[in-house]
Amino acid sequence: MLTDLQKEIRYLKEEKNGIILAHNYQPQEIQEIADFIGDSLELCIKASEIKDKDLVVFCGVDFMAETAAILNPLKKIVIPDKNAECPMAHMLPAAEVRKYKKRYPSAAVVLYVNTLAEAKAEADVLCTSANALKVVESLEEDTILFGPDQNLAWYVAQQTDKEIIPIPEEGHCYVHKMFTPADILFQKEKYPEADVLVHPECNKEVQELTENVLSTGGMLKHVKKSSKKDFIIGTEVDMVTRIKREHPEKNPMPAFEEAICENMKLHTLEKVKNSLINEEFVVTVPEEIAQKALKAVQRMLDISL
Ligand code: 13P
Ligand code: SF4
Repeated sequence: MLTDLQKEIRYLKEEKNGIILAHNYQPQEIQEIADFIGDSLELCIKASEIKDKDLVVFCGVDFMAETAAILNPLKKIVIPDKNAECPMAHMLPAAEVRKYKKRYPSAAVVLYVNTLAEAKAEADVLCTSANALKVVESLEEDTILFGPDQNLAWYVAQQTDKEIIPIPEEGHCYVHKMFTPADILFQKEKYPEADVLVHPECNKEVQELTENVLSTGGMLKHVKKSSKKDFIIGTEVDMVTRIKREHPEKNPMPAFEEAICENMKLHTLEKVKNSLINEEFVVTVPEEIAQKALKAVQRMLDISL
């Protein structure tokens, strides 16, 4: 049952011919009013398909909304809280990418979608946690500058013969850094039958504990096709909310309950309502940067679809 505020948001959204996109880490009340929920890749694909809507409300962090803006230059993209930034995306400024490109002129540049538009404009191609290996393997170059997440870089490096150079050396996500092998082993002892699913942004010691290193969308697919009931989820806690809503018959458990992305949680229903009424806060990317970044986004989509 939706609350009055949620119903009002639905009504306003219809009135504005809008669509609400939300990342898997949004809290339950926002998941409930979203038209589409997904991981970064699924959200990119959805954003690339939006045709008949005038207003896109993006409940995610800055780099995700920027990507939607790059893919939809003629549409109004708004984010309910303009301070919803991904700290990892800010760890790799465009100038830093240019510095590495000078140092390794023959290397290809693969950037995680968790980067700002200016950095994306310096990339040959983007990737997400769902397609990073596929993207890297699709390239002719044998040396790859890969950033900003050092753990995703490590994950890819384990599975390719190419040389993966992490840029910057220690880019990371503060949320996924919280998981330790002890958290996973503690839960595994309580639920020995459970499948352990962890995100490639987790430290390598955590990744090494399981063969299920997955994007958030990959986790949902894994739970759906698995005959198991128990799952230990090594990513942001609201991924558990998403899985429970989709599969009430399963028992997903957070590997660490305090793994909360505060940045994602800045959005609230009140702010979503405001973004629909006042059509704010508009996310824009300067045209020249958007055009360059679009090439890297499009190349990723061509490889992924
Ligand atoms: P996914 O693409 O797997 O949803 O990851 C996005 C993200 O920000 C993880 O922290
Ligand atoms: Fe960024 Fe980490 Fe939050 Fe994902 S969980 S949006 S990588 S800070």
